[in-house]
Amino acid sequence: MRGASNRRARIIDMKPLCKIVSDVPASGIRKFFDVVSQMKDVVSLGVGEPDFVTPWRVREAAIYSLERGYTNYTSNYGLLELRTAIAEHVNAREGLQYNPENQILITVGVSEGMDLALRAILNPGDEVIVPEPCYVSYKPCVVFAGGVPIPLCSDPSTGFATTADRVAKSITPNTKAILLSYPCNPTGATMSAEELQKIVDVVAENDLYIITDEIYDRLTYSGRHCCVATLKQAYDRTILLNGFSKAYAMTGWRIAYAASRPDIIEMMMKIHQYTMLCASIMGQMAALEAIKNGDGDTEDMVAQYDQRRRLIVSGLNQIGLPCVLPNGAFYAFPSIESTGLSSEEFSERLLFEEKVAVVPGNAFGDCGEGFVRCSYATSIDKIETALERIEKFVKKLS
Ligand SMILES: Cc1ncc(COP(=O)(O)O)c(C=O)c1O
Repeated sequence: MRGASNRRARIIDMKPLCKIVSDVPASGIRKFFDVVSQMKDVVSLGVGEPDFVTPWRVREAAIYSLERGYTNYTSNYGLLELRTAIAEHVNAREGLQYNPENQILITVGVSEGMDLALRAILNPGDEVIVPEPCYVSYKPCVVFAGGVPIPLCSDPSTGFATTADRVAKSITPNTKAILLSYPCNPTGATMSAEELQKIVDVVAENDLYIITDEIYDRLTYSGRHCCVATLKQAYDRTILLNGFSKAYAMTGWRIAYAASRPDIIEMMMKIHQYTMLCASIMGQMAALEAIKNGDGDTEDMVAQYDQRRRLIVSGLNQIGLPCVLPNGAFYAFPSIESTGLSSEEFSERLLFEEKVAVVPGNAFGDCGEGFVRCSYATSIDKIETALERIEKFVKKLS
């Protein structure tokens, strides 16, 4: 290739790139894990994805669909067969009715669903209440959609759940929506129907939209998951996001769905149509098998997460890092305040001195400071080794 050797990336003096994007910091988690990937013998409690491989029946269904030549675009909304199966599934579990023709949109992960939902409802300057600590992408997504995230702190005193009182106090004339996400990443917090109903009452009084990310709904260990859209006054103002990544160990397939009112789904579909066209048909074929026949696989995985959850939480408490028993997802969120280190110092030193990777709590919002996130989506053996190393590290500090 003639001349190719001269084409090196260099900073040149041109009109500046987009200010909105350049003002948003890159995810701290990514930077941290770039370092981890270069190190040997690290036990990682860092990654937020199942350590299980997608169940064989699901992989096989995808392979079979390829053999039959399913390699084309699908409807912008996604395969009708998959939307129908999702509508039936949501109806069976939650008693909610969504018309598969115009109330369900297949998205490229909940990640895309979140972006579409925000872009469909926000006008520039609209405020979105975001309870924290929360998944790292929420605030940047609000900003990219032209909105203003209003963080709302929660802490161990309420089991990291937010309260209707706090929500009410953060509402201004510019508030447009609230983002709910229970079970929560990074705290594992869940919320009861009673507590969520109080929040929905405040939201309805102030005519706000609700975007609810329920990607961890199946990973609830005791009691029943409360689907926000089932609450009084919620259905018409709620965009329900859910997906296949966590429940069926399908992170790489990139399939999720949004369910809401037809006019909202139509708005989301318009953005999806022009930017994404459709989710991959291979992923959709796999998801169809998962939702039709994968419940047993999910239950097996949840039973294993539950065992790991108890092990890691009791281990952390014994070490002297107080940790509430989380009721959902696959994360423990212990306090590291007693060590006198910031969450970044703790995570960095633990990584370099004892080769255990955890995520600093401040990656999930300012009120995550003083905590670290430990994912227990890893084997019992690795959790035991990590606990031994964390104990050694904490003893050294005292
Ligand atoms: C709360 C939450 N929402 C969404 C996602 C991303 O999901 P998806 O793989 O469906 O894009 C994650 C991934 O960790 C998550 O923790």
